[in-house]
Amino acid sequence: MRAEVVTLFPDMVRVVLETSILGRAIAAGHLVCGITDLRPYGLGAYRRVDDVPYGGGAGMVLRPEPVYAAVEAVEGRLGEPTRRILTSPQGRPFTQAMAEELAREPRPLLILCGHYEGVDARVQEGLAFEEVSIGDYVLSGGELAALVMLDAAARLVPGVLGDARSAAEDTFSEASGRGLKHPQYTRPPVFRGMAVPEVLRSGNHAAIARWRAEAAQGATRAKRPDLGPEAD
Ligand code: 6GU
Repeated sequence: MRAEVVTLFPDMVRVVLETSILGRAIAAGHLVCGITDLRPYGLGAYRRVDDVPYGGGAGMVLRPEPVYAAVEAVEGRLGEPTRRILTSPQGRPFTQAMAEELAREPRPLLILCGHYEGVDARVQEGLAFEEVSIGDYVLSGGELAALVMLDAAARLVPGVLGDARSAAEDTFSEASGRGLKHPQYTRPPVFRGMAVPEVLRSGNHAAIARWRAEAAQGATRAKRPDLGPEAD
């Protein structure tokens, strides 16, 4: 999996990419991720990247020229077309299905971190970015959203997690029916009077699978009735 993050806060992105599972995925070569600072593509001596919105209103808008220049530089350097993603609360909601899709994407991802009150609409118009949101709330910048998407996708790249089953059995995975996961237990068998369900210690794999499927459905119905087969 390959990605390039275009951002006004490269240090923020770098720190997270160097840490934890993402850091290991990069060290092992499962994820190749570049960071492009948008600032040098800004205008004039002050490398200005934003301006006031036409029509008035609060906040600033990211100008199109720096974005076009950065995208053209990145794609020129990569020597191939990218899958262009713009982080934005106006975007299509990011889901596990999209994480799976990004993990399998043959093109490099070009993730532009949105900022200020928005990005000039001619960025979308001329560069055909997919707008993606990570949820119905507003972040002060797209960096955390870009990192959320990269983390969710990279852990699905074969080899990134120690055990391939662990991603297949995820909450929201295809195998889980896009619902929640069953409860998990580890040792000890009894803790402060609370026992691990007997079936999980029975060694009967068919019975364990049935118990887990039912527990997962029960949890989904109870905690996320909007998910799963009964949704809509
Ligand atoms: Cl992708 N960006 C920003 N700025 N806020 C968000 C978001 C993205 N997703 C949810 N809120």
